[in-house]
Amino acid sequence: MSISKAFNSNVTSQNSIEKRLQIQRLVKATEVVTLSAGSDVVKGLTQIPKSLPPCYFYDDRGSELFEQICDLPEYYLTRTETTILQQCADEIAKITGACELVELGSGSSSKTRILLDAYQQRGYPLHYLPIDVSTGILESSAKQLLRDYPSLQVYALAGTYELALAQLLARQLPSRMICFIGSTLGNLTPNECDILFSEITEALQVGEYFLLGIDLRKPKQILEPAYNDSQGVTAAFNLNMLEHLNQRFEGNFDTTQFEHWAFYNESEHQIEMHLRSLRSQIVELRALNLKVDFALGETILTEISRKFDLNAIKQQLTAQGLLPLHVWTDPNQWFGLLLCQLQA
Ligand code: AVJ
Repeated sequence: MSISKAFNSNVTSQNSIEKRLQIQRLVKATEVVTLSAGSDVVKGLTQIPKSLPPCYFYDDRGSELFEQICDLPEYYLTRTETTILQQCADEIAKITGACELVELGSGSSSKTRILLDAYQQRGYPLHYLPIDVSTGILESSAKQLLRDYPSLQVYALAGTYELALAQLLARQLPSRMICFIGSTLGNLTPNECDILFSEITEALQVGEYFLLGIDLRKPKQILEPAYNDSQGVTAAFNLNMLEHLNQRFEGNFDTTQFEHWAFYNESEHQIEMHLRSLRSQIVELRALNLKVDFALGETILTEISRKFDLNAIKQQLTAQGLLPLHVWTDPNQWFGLLLCQLQA
């Protein structure tokens, strides 16, 4: 669907929305090859133990399911971070002054509205650069935002963080803040974290900002239910990755023959989500020219969700030149929000 078709409001607001919205689909020179090859999928499914990259959760259906997860009673993360943001958004706006908001993994952008409200109340111009792998959710949330914020300019980037960070255009406001909230950082291994932090420092100029939201360590009695909800939404989200692969790579995964399995790995301080094969079976992904053998009970690791220690992450950020200026948490210390500034 083209952006112009996405708007069926009256012509005047349609024009002004179109003028304020640009969506760029990022493609690297080798993209056509790597996408059709699905080399990351082949790699993950041919190694032992099997794994799949968590970005494959987020087709349009997966993004919808994730929005439902955020509203679950057991999933404390979104609610806790929202409360923190409501309390500190004005302070953030005061510190950064007028600045462009770049968001990694923007999804529905609902928490970002709290920041936009704070910048708007201070009379700052609103420039928003959401980055997401799901084009569907980029379009629909940009559309909603442009209706609700009449002066907002949106420059959306559809693609991976790496590509988007490497291709940011020069800013038009006095500063810029890269936002990585929602604890998506938890999906990355410590090594991948370091790589992302250096891509972020490359994309920022000295004095610009990085806002990071992270889930903190807590007892597994609280963590495990958040990834094993009673309504089965998380299970559906996990299994949807197989539907996504079926669609994208002509696969024949039978989702009734796999089950959701999530637990807290205490020594690694991470939730692990797996899909467990309910029988011995062979799955074919025709577009990848791949046949995969599963033993009864064999698992695919679909996600790690790391839980952070505030002092350790502060040190890691500082070591990368991203100085934490402020840290906010909730009264339980369940979630942390860090505002960092790139040092010379
Ligand atoms: C979006 C990566 C932060 O790790 O909690 C939610 C994804 N997985 N339920 C998380 C997720 C299962 C979520 N992040």
